[in-house]
Amino acid sequence: MTQGKSRVFSGIQPSGELHIGNYLGAIRNWVALTEEYECIYCIVDLHAVTVPYEPAELPGRIRELAIGLLASGVDPERCTLFVQSAVPEHTELAWLLNTVTPLGELSRMTQFKDKSDRVDTVNAGLLNYPVLQAADILLYLADRVPVGEDQVQHLELTREIARRWNGRFGDYFPEPQALTGGGKRILGLDGMSKMSKSQNNTIPLLADEEDLWSVLRMAVTDPARVRREDPGNPDVCNVFTLHGHFSSTEERAEIDVLCRTAGIGCVDCKRRLTANMAEHLAPIRDSAEDLRANPDRVTEILDEGARRARAIASVTVAEVRDRMGIARRSP
Ligand code: TRP
Repeated sequence: MTQGKSRVFSGIQPSGELHIGNYLGAIRNWVALTEEYECIYCIVDLHAVTVPYEPAELPGRIRELAIGLLASGVDPERCTLFVQSAVPEHTELAWLLNTVTPLGELSRMTQFKDKSDRVDTVNAGLLNYPVLQAADILLYLADRVPVGEDQVQHLELTREIARRWNGRFGDYFPEPQALTGGGKRILGLDGMSKMSKSQNNTIPLLADEEDLWSVLRMAVTDPARVRREDPGNPDVCNVFTLHGHFSSTEERAEIDVLCRTAGIGCVDCKRRLTANMAEHLAPIRDSAEDLRANPDRVTEILDEGARRARAIASVTVAEVRDRMGIARRSP
């Protein structure tokens, strides 16, 4: 571990196109954290296979996610970025941690209950998902984990698993703390639920102006034009909130007045948002284009990331095996 610096670990699933919610809620924060911490970021493909998916599409999804992260400013010179399945220690440690994980805790996880409601048969991978997540984090002895609210429960379980393992085999794993509040909870086009692939309410990150307009024109606004009736809470109109992320302070103030006095309609308001968003995101889109044209570079970055990750992970697993009395690997 770099002297004195806390280590951050976080993961993101290759489950679909990156969207504005990922960018504002997580990725921007990932980039900022590299200033202060030693950061390890992981594309968690082994988590993504716990729900129905198309095998032929998975490699492309992983690649596009890597491209999107790099284009958004996740800098491989300042952090380690890799794909989970490239480091087999993740699954090895997950198995070992399973042996100290209480089944009752797993079946109480909110995300497990939500997801298992949505599928016909519940596979054991869905149940054990948080154990793999604990392995991701503990493998690197990470002490900080940037996550959204929805992952806080998984992080609590990670601490519980670390405690139980330490209690049984001797103090080794730190109990990682959640870093919440880095990014904001971004609502989707419906203006009601969190922007997410499963809600079908996303604004794609790597879209051009035309594509942005085709989704933003559908965004739900507040017909009563109230917007800020409840200070401290999100604006009632999500389009107005999004202006806050992509438009200048002056323009947003102008829109605030124009909207309330009916000087501007929702369509024009959305058009201005689309233009500003497209402009703001243009460098990310361009950089993604460059990376797509240079696939070897992306491969090289992920390979190097996996090498660095594995150097740490293999030391952890060797120690864990030793303390658990498990035979040495064949040479
Ligand atoms: N479960 C997380 C999510 O869906 C992704 C994830 C997997 C993760 N492993 C992790 C997040 C380790 C933080 C740390 O968002």
